[in-house]
Amino acid sequence: MATGFVPPPYPHDRLEGLKVVAAAHPDGRGIVDLSIGTPCDPPADAVVAALATSGAERGYPQSIGSPRLREAAAGWMSRRFGVALPASQLAACVGTKEWVATTPHWLHLRRPDRDTVLYPGTSYPTYAMGATLAGCRAVPYASLDDVADDDAARALCLWVNSPSNPTGELADLGAAAAWGRARGVPVLSDECYAEFTWDGPPRTILEHGTDGVLAAHSLSKRSNLAGVRAGFYAGDGDLVAYLSEVRKHAGFMVPGPVQAAAAVAFDDDEHVDAQRERYRRRLALLADALGSPLPAGSFYLWVPASSAEPGADGWALAAELAGTAGCLVSPGEFYGSDGAGFVRIAVVQPDERLEVVAERLARRP
Ligand SMILES: Cc1ncc(COP(=O)(O)O)c(C=O)c1O
Repeated sequence: MATGFVPPPYPHDRLEGLKVVAAAHPDGRGIVDLSIGTPCDPPADAVVAALATSGAERGYPQSIGSPRLREAAAGWMSRRFGVALPASQLAACVGTKEWVATTPHWLHLRRPDRDTVLYPGTSYPTYAMGATLAGCRAVPYASLDDVADDDAARALCLWVNSPSNPTGELADLGAAAAWGRARGVPVLSDECYAEFTWDGPPRTILEHGTDGVLAAHSLSKRSNLAGVRAGFYAGDGDLVAYLSEVRKHAGFMVPGPVQAAAAVAFDDDEHVDAQRERYRRRLALLADALGSPLPAGSFYLWVPASSAEPGADGWALAAELAGTAGCLVSPGEFYGSDGAGFVRIAVVQPDERLEVVAERLARRP
C-alpha cells in the first residue's frame, strides 16, 4: 500500500458545487466563469498561421529552443525592458507552470545540502507544490525582512512574482535580487504578467543584473496562447546552462511548430497593446461594479470578503457571487491561508459577459 505523497485536490476542482449554483442563476443568462486565469480572446492571426506552416513537425525540436525563438525572445526583452541578453542566457520552457513545478527539483539535485523553497505567502500554488515535488520544505514569506536566518541559510531558491497572482501587487525586484545575492540564494522571478503592469512600465528582475537570478516569461497571458504551451527563462548564465542541460536529459521540449509560432508572437507588440486595453477596460468595469480597488498589475481583482459582510471569508463571498451574480470566482484560500479572507476574480470573459455580471450585481438585494 502506498504510504507516501498523495496529491491534494486540484484547487479549481473544488469549485464544482459553486459552478452548479452559478449556472442556475435565475435570469437564465448562464454562468460567467471568472475563476481560472485562462485567456478568452483570440491570438494574433500571424501566430496561428505560423503554427500550420513551420514545417517543424517531423524532427525533434531543440529542448533549449530554436535559435530563431531565442533571438525573438531576447529581442522582446530588449524592446520591453531595455535588457540586452545573449541567447546563451535564455532557454525555452513548455509554458511556465512546468518550469515552476520542476525547477526546485533540479536545483536540489545540484545542491542537496539546501532543502528549503521560499515563496510569497499569498501566491500561485505551484511554488509550494514545486517544493513538495522536490522533497523540500515549502516556506512562505510575507516580506523578505521576515525570512528567518535558518530558512535563508537552508534556501535552495526564493520565488518572487510581480505582478502578483492573485493580489496584483508589484514586488521590489531590485531588493529581491540583492537579498538573494547577499545570501547566495538563486532568485526565481515569475514575470508572466509583466505586460499587464498598470502602475508604471513593465519590469523584470534582469534590470538589476543577471547574477544569481532568473526571470520566467510566458506567452500564455501575453499573447493568448495558453493552449500552445510556450515560455522561456533567462538570466544567470550558469543557472541557464545547468537547467537547460538537465531539462534536455529529461525530455522537456516545446513542440517545433509552437516554437515557430512563439517567435512570431515575440516579434510583435501590437497584439499585446490591444490585449492590454481589453483587460484595462474589463478591470475597470468589474472594479466599479464591486466597489473594489484596481490592481497595480495582472488581470485579477483581489476582493476582500468583508466588503460583502463583516467577518465573511472568501468561500462565503464566492458563494454569494455565484448565487446573486451567477459568476464563479476563486476563494482566496487557494493562494495560501493568508488569502482566506479574499476572492480572486479573473477578468477573462468578453465585455458583454462581464456586463451581465455588473447588471446582476447592481440588482443584488
Ligand atoms: C503566477 C503564474 N505563474 C505561472 C503560470 C503558468 O502559466 P503558463 O504555464 O501557462 O505559462 C500562471 C498561470 O496562471 C501564473 O498565474
